[in-house]
Amino acid sequence: MNHLIAPSLLSADFLNLEKDIEMVNRSEADWFHLDIMDGVFVPNISFGFPVIEKINQKATKPLDVHLMIIDPDRYIQRFKEAGAYLISVHYETCQNLHRTVYAIKKTGIKAGVVLNPHSPVHLLTNIIKDVDLVMLMSVNPGYGGQKLIEETYSKIEQLKDLILEKGSSAMIEIDGGVDITNAAKLLSCGADVLVAGNTVFSSHDPIDVIHALKRI
Ligand code: DX5
Ligand code: ZN
Repeated sequence: MNHLIAPSLLSADFLNLEKDIEMVNRSEADWFHLDIMDGVFVPNISFGFPVIEKINQKATKPLDVHLMIIDPDRYIQRFKEAGAYLISVHYETCQNLHRTVYAIKKTGIKAGVVLNPHSPVHLLTNIIKDVDLVMLMSVNPGYGGQKLIEETYSKIEQLKDLILEKGSSAMIEIDGGVDITNAAKLLSCGADVLVAGNTVFSSHDPIDVIHALKRI
């Protein structure tokens, strides 16, 4: 039971963000998952620095920042200053991923890499030792509330094998379509962190959903 739960504020009530942040603070959740979308890499635009800075003022747990933006290098320092604990960039957005990972680490925070559903795990063979976390997208990025892609389970196992083979200490985070029906299987395949958006925030008792995900 030492996995982490990261509620995604993409599905929070933006008219009552403070209330939802305080709910996550009170809950057994471990991180806040923040989805940053540029409308180019993904077909949606979410929120940016002014909102993240306000979230950071209220949040009592680390900010797990998921960048779905092209050319993320341009903004690493600003996300760090806005309060990021961990910044994850998509493999698909980085021309020089090794440089980007070290640019994140140089700011003093943790660095993660994200793979889209179509990107195979072996793409990370030569960088797995350098990253603190790998996030596997279990839906196509851009929206909350989608259904988990079944291929994810075998990808987690492949990633776990790669991590062990290379002696990496990277954590495995799963993002998209996680709910109480699939969480146990994701964890048994090797996941360490579960992102949960819709399943938490569409519930009438989000604290209890987080509790249930944490107790698996
Ligand atoms: C999708 C985002 C996810 C999303 C997850 O692009 O990266 O973090 O908010 O939401 P659910 O849990 O609703 O699939
Ligand atoms: Zn995300």
